[in-house]
Amino acid sequence: MARLTINGRTSEVNVDPSTPLLWALREQVGLTGTKYGCGVQACGACTVHLDGKAVRSCGTPVSAAVGKQIITIEGLATGGVLHKVQKAWVEHEVPQCGYCQSGMIMAVAALLKDKPKPTDGDIDTAITNICRCGTFQQVREAIHAAAKA
Ligand code: FES
Ligand code: FES
Repeated sequence: MARLTINGRTSEVNVDPSTPLLWALREQVGLTGTKYGCGVQACGACTVHLDGKAVRSCGTPVSAAVGKQIITIEGLATGGVLHKVQKAWVEHEVPQCGYCQSGMIMAVAALLKDKPKPTDGDIDTAITNICRCGTFQQVREAIHAAAKA
């Protein structure tokens, strides 16, 4: 049993502490916006924030998330208002199938917190998420738009 703070609420999860956070979020808490892609920290589909930093939850044990603020895609908007990254995603029609996009948005939100005006080089370094639909150009445009918002 572990007590996690997810999107500002406390949840008890009944898992071994070594269980990947991804599975606790999806299967115990029912937050299925965080996706399973590769399971080996390569694709970024499972990205969430731990104390404001982007982490790949498939490779993060539940034990590492105890006592930290976990934010998932379901908790990124505040008070019914979309995060500026979500707004830019809608305006630039970034998603295709959408499967990678919650992880992509969480990674970008963390990047903009660290670097409010990222260069293309900053984006290439920080956003290593894989999109099988090839939305990378739209992602880049929407990041620059969100940075101006
Ligand atoms: S599912 Fe976690 S990085 Fe791919
Ligand atoms: S939008 Fe389909 S995998 Fe990225």
